[in-house]
Amino acid sequence: MSAADERARWSTLLPQTPIRFAPDFAWGVASSAFQAEGGDVPNDWVEAARAGRVPPNPGNGFWTRGEEDLRLVASLGLRHYRMSVEWSRVEPERGRFDASALDHYRALCDAAAAAGVTPWVNLFHFTHPRWVAESGGLLAIANRDAFLRYVEHVGRALAPHARHFHVSNESMVYVLTAYLMGVNPPFVQDATSAFTMTRHVLALHADAHRILKALVPQPTVATIEVYLDARPEDPADALQRQAAERFDAWYHGTLLEALATGWIRLPGREPEEIPHLRGALDLYGFNYYNATSFGAQGPGSWSDLADPPVDGMRRRVFPGGLEDGLVRVATALPGVPLLVTENGCPTDDETFRIRYLASHFAALDRARARGADVRGYFHWTAVDNYEWHEGFGAHARFGLIGFDPATQERSVKRSGRWLAEVISRSVLDPAGVP
Ligand code: FCB
Repeated sequence: MSAADERARWSTLLPQTPIRFAPDFAWGVASSAFQAEGGDVPNDWVEAARAGRVPPNPGNGFWTRGEEDLRLVASLGLRHYRMSVEWSRVEPERGRFDASALDHYRALCDAAAAAGVTPWVNLFHFTHPRWVAESGGLLAIANRDAFLRYVEHVGRALAPHARHFHVSNESMVYVLTAYLMGVNPPFVQDATSAFTMTRHVLALHADAHRILKALVPQPTVATIEVYLDARPEDPADALQRQAAERFDAWYHGTLLEALATGWIRLPGREPEEIPHLRGALDLYGFNYYNATSFGAQGPGSWSDLADPPVDGMRRRVFPGGLEDGLVRVATALPGVPLLVTENGCPTDDETFRIRYLASHFAALDRARARGADVRGYFHWTAVDNYEWHEGFGAHARFGLIGFDPATQERSVKRSGRWLAEVISRSVLDPAGVP
């Protein structure tokens, strides 16, 4: 395809007029411990890699170069860093906490502060310690209790060093991929377990929220969920419509109602009220990537455009989902501020990444104009990292910063420099989009 044809694909998505950001708009990046650190840690993803079910993860060097990365991020004007704590490092065996691992995360929070960057600490990002995985995962009550003990332990250790916490990344995606579709560890493919697990992650969120609020002075405890704008690929197809509606009712419906009212309603089950789940968030962390559809051609094949841009993982670019999702959450949870806690795209084409960012900033701006109180934007991710099933494939690189696998030397990409310019001027100038 010619460059002009490729540019034409983006024409209706890119901003036509400048987009302005308030000086206190929170610009940041997001990452997760395991995806950046990698290594031979005692968790279930490492086990799955050993069994050949997922790619191995050598990491991007963040474990030793974390401080350097924080300084690099700060040099781009990005003032917030969403990181996570790897449970299997902190508690490698049930009940045995490793003080040196906690020291490491404490030092990382301090290094962030020293670089002028605010740390946002997430406590669970898909990976389980092996001992949890081997004893029934979070379906087992002993392990849910253990999770809350871990939350308390880490909260106590990090409270003097950080005040923004997330209990878990994308709880609903965790349930979807690990318990319903069975593609992620523990590879369970069972609707009953998935509904049970939905209840458990919501209850754990409420309990962990309460624990962190009591430990951390002036805390922000936020949820993080990815918005999946589920559509029938063919709106005239009743079955596809029904599939999308059912999915949405479970995925977003259950979650938003639970956070707004404390009631958990799951198909075929008695409604359950967990009173301290109501309003158990100071902020809603909103992740968003691409179109999601139900239809003959499989997930992600729907689009509002005849010829949409497609990212390195063959997903269709659809900024409208970011706009509508932000407005929907803002309406469902009035008074709760929103933060885009992940957005970005897998690609090895820097022109593509800049266009993706510009088109999503335009969507964010439209959501704000429709009343969504969006306080900031965290890009996924800083340095290229392990993209789960895609490993470190060139097509699956989300970073603003690349690294040399031999030397681990970092280099800022063109998109990183472009974003730094937007941040420093607090304005996105359409003329600067290739
Ligand atoms: C999100 C995950 C994150 C990362 C991005 C690309 O859904 O939270 O770990 O893999 O997708």
